[in-house]
Amino acid sequence: MSNSTHRLSVIIDCDPGQDDALMLFLALNAPELDVLGVVACGGNVPLARTELNCRILVEMAGRTDVPVYAGCVGPMVEQLFTAEYLHGETGIDGIDFFEPSIPKQDMHGVDFIIETLRKAEDDEITLVPTGPLTNIAMALRKAPDILPKIKQIVLMGGASFEAGNVTPSAEFNIYVDPHAADIVMRCGRPIVMFGLDVTHQLMTNPCIVENISVLDNKVAHASAGMLDFFGQYDAAKYSAEGGPLHDPCTIAWLLEPEIFELKPCHVAIETTSELTRGHTAVDFWGVTGNEPNALWAHEANRDRFFGLLTERLALY
Ligand code: BDR
Ligand code: CA
Repeated sequence: MSNSTHRLSVIIDCDPGQDDALMLFLALNAPELDVLGVVACGGNVPLARTELNCRILVEMAGRTDVPVYAGCVGPMVEQLFTAEYLHGETGIDGIDFFEPSIPKQDMHGVDFIIETLRKAEDDEITLVPTGPLTNIAMALRKAPDILPKIKQIVLMGGASFEAGNVTPSAEFNIYVDPHAADIVMRCGRPIVMFGLDVTHQLMTNPCIVENISVLDNKVAHASAGMLDFFGQYDAAKYSAEGGPLHDPCTIAWLLEPEIFELKPCHVAIETTSELTRGHTAVDFWGVTGNEPNALWAHEANRDRFFGLLTERLALY
């Protein structure tokens, strides 16, 4: 369907979020990727804001050719839980706000995912969700015929040996919509997961932010501003030097897979318990007898990750 035969066709689904923003910047100037569209979901902040943020970030990256869609307002079953406490009122506090000129597309984001996959060849499209999995699960529910078109789902979500960041048991994206995560984990297509086990190995520090802030372009300056804001929460709460770069792991893996070590495992999602809602039960040792349904990232090369991020931001 795309004339870019050597590039990987991707649909990004996200909830910016400063770390989603960095993920978008990494994707939008990558010659290796053909970004077919960006879909917003309700997550870190409400949908009206994540959708606006997607348009701001896409425009900032100079990719006004990439369409932006609004997906679902909130989770399939639960009430939306947002994270202004971490990301600020706008979700991308740290940038100089402007009104984007690119429009929101009329089509619903879930329908965009379905239409695009229906037009694709089998195994053609990579889905990259870095927010709650609502839109992806809704697309699978509405149109299960799209399944063979999915090459892989490369997502940020979950936690195992690192435990949760929103409750002791759960990571934010899975916690917000555990029912959607459950549908995605059972879908049968290849899934690559970047959870807190690996994203907590990728904390920024003032030196990394400074290296980005001295790059001579507005995307890098906006990135440094956002990273500076994003790091303050962890600095205050955990005496850390900065914040974890969760969402960019997905695109970094597509661009330079050697940065990460992955293990095949079975991942199940807790949907019923109030105490452990959104817990990812990761079976590394085959104790459940379930076949692996995911590759789970457990180690990251910090220098290579931040090297890649800084190099790619320098190219704007
Ligand atoms: C995830 O939750 C959000 O706060 C971040 O954007 C990331 O996708 C980390 O738990
Ligand atoms: Ca996110």
